[in-house]
Amino acid sequence: MTQSTRERADLDFLAGKRMRRTRQTGWSRAMVQETDLTSRDLILPLFILEGENQREKIATMPGVERLSIDLAIEVAKEARDLGIPALALFPCTQNDRRTEDGRESYNPDNLMCQALRAIKKAVPDIGLIADVALDPYTSHGHDGLMDGEIILNDESVAVLIKQALNQAAAGADIIAPSDMMDGRIGALREALDAEGYENVILLSYAAKFASAFYGPFRDAVGSGARLKGDKKTYQLEPFNREEALREVEQDLLEAADWVMVKPGMAYLDIVREVKDRFEVPVFAYQVSGEYAQIEFAAAAGALDRDGAMMESLIAFKRAGCSGILTYFALDAAKKIRG
Ligand code: PBG
Repeated sequence: MTQSTRERADLDFLAGKRMRRTRQTGWSRAMVQETDLTSRDLILPLFILEGENQREKIATMPGVERLSIDLAIEVAKEARDLGIPALALFPCTQNDRRTEDGRESYNPDNLMCQALRAIKKAVPDIGLIADVALDPYTSHGHDGLMDGEIILNDESVAVLIKQALNQAAAGADIIAPSDMMDGRIGALREALDAEGYENVILLSYAAKFASAFYGPFRDAVGSGARLKGDKKTYQLEPFNREEALREVEQDLLEAADWVMVKPGMAYLDIVREVKDRFEVPVFAYQVSGEYAQIEFAAAAGALDRDGAMMESLIAFKRAGCSGILTYFALDAAKKIRG
């Protein structure tokens, strides 16, 4: 504190200014609350499994399960009834369908498309977000095609386009590319428009960092054990803020409707800066490792689970998020409902 700041604080205090006056009661705190959290802010990710009446626990994500489509429909109804506006679907592709070239991604009858069609039919009034990236479909677990050790860019984008058109045809309302290849937003927009999907929303995972916090997700979709190396030649370096902003700017120039920052909590500085700088809807993904952190710490008795859950989600809103992809979506929505 500089000398003059201290002097001003002393003067303010003498003049009768007390910050705690406002905080005395619940109602006075409520009157000055600056942000809020509603079920409209929450997006529920769902892991889809083949078969019927199937559910599988995910050891690294306590409380989250992979669900067959019939069970996912029941959860979709519950989410809708709680006021959650959208689901983000992730397929746990059958192992024998994972190949070097990820061709299952554009099979019109793949698990993802089956889920999109069935949920759209059963619960038409909830938005469906389809993740675009090849990692659930490749034998090497990378988001793009490989040539030796290299992740190919333009060749990957060509396949991602086929994947996205396949998802749009199956009923995806929002296409969310999470692959971080260059040029994919513009290419996807052009391809979607050419095929008559000009109303499909593009939500770009624009600032996606190469993160250790994706670990449990990779277990959930079965890509983790396969993954050779890391994703640092396409995902962002956690040291870099300016590069993240350039990624966002580029995707907006290529006609992304909305942008996403990922992971969430460790990157809320990026969320705020994107919001202030570009004034577009910004979403953030509270990723699997962030969820696991809270769940495991709570299970060990280290913190109050619901308190930590709500506080973490409020932080996203305070940072400027329009919405949060979170595995807590159902529980948080219930808590908000009281
Ligand atoms: C894959 C993808 C990942 C996540 C969403 N889509 C993982 C990765 O890039 O390796 C992570 C979500 C989470 O951790 O909850 N394209």
